[in-house]
Amino acid sequence: MTTTDARPDLMVEAQRVRKNFGRLEVLKGIDLEVPRGTVTCLIGPSGSGKSTFLRCVNHLEKVNAGRLYVDGELIGYREKKGVLHEISEADAARQRRDIGMVFQNFNLFPHRTVMGNIIEAPIQVKGVIPDQARAKADELLNIVGLSHKADAYPAQLSGGQQQRVAIARALAMEPKLMLFDEPTSALDPELVGEVLNVMRELANRGMTMIVVTHEMGFAREVADQVVFMADGVVVEAGAPEQVLGEPREERTREFLSSLLK
Ligand SMILES: Nc1ncnc2c1ncn2[C@@H]1O[C@H](COP(=O)(O)OP(=O)(O)OP(=O)(O)O)[C@@H](O)[C@H]1O
Ligand SMILES: [Mg+2]
Repeated sequence: MTTTDARPDLMVEAQRVRKNFGRLEVLKGIDLEVPRGTVTCLIGPSGSGKSTFLRCVNHLEKVNAGRLYVDGELIGYREKKGVLHEISEADAARQRRDIGMVFQNFNLFPHRTVMGNIIEAPIQVKGVIPDQARAKADELLNIVGLSHKADAYPAQLSGGQQQRVAIARALAMEPKLMLFDEPTSALDPELVGEVLNVMRELANRGMTMIVVTHEMGFAREVADQVVFMADGVVVEAGAPEQVLGEPREERTREFLSSLLK
């Protein structure tokens, strides 16, 4: 375990995180604090680096500079005498295991049933015995309202149902943090609500969540903190009523009014 100067009250702490793809600077020094048990909604225009930031938190992308801590642990690196050394792929996979990620496009295994999708990783990755994995999956299906679909295949489900299965599948690994990247963007409007309801329920149960979303109603109601990103920087962050209701920065105001058009 790395010794860190990370703050114990924070589940995620980003310190001057930078990321570039070749010469393209995508994250230009992101500072972000996500206290344990809170919901952060990340908003901002297309191309501002929201997905890239989430992928860095999950160590699907390597940061070029700065530090990212999750649960007090430095992501992707080990610090020895002030020098950062990259961790092995096995250690990175272990860090990733504790972080659930839900994408826009569900990414369910098409040839597995709903139950099969949910129990796969706990059994294969964590070595949970199948009976236990199934019992846990039953509980999760109940939470996402899909107990009656355990034996269905993804193609037999609506988009909203598939996304709820994807959430249950992520939860089956008992993550300490959930990352959502526009989880409702691919859904027909009438299916958005059922997915947001599940996320609201998760928030009520105390899950720490970072949610990239365009659903401002959800952000206003559920977020503890709204972070507005543009061009690879955090333009402003604060309580939803402040950032969405009385933005301090002109750039934020422009973005919010563009959503209404
Ligand atoms: N693997 C990659 N290689 C090169 N450039 C990339 C890569 N991934 C992202 N980018 C670039 O980084 C920038 C930020 O992309 P990112 O996907 O993080 O934006 P975003 O805020 O999530 O946008 P959107 O709202 O459209 O999803 C974009 O200019 C994008 O083209
Ligand atoms: Mg994105």
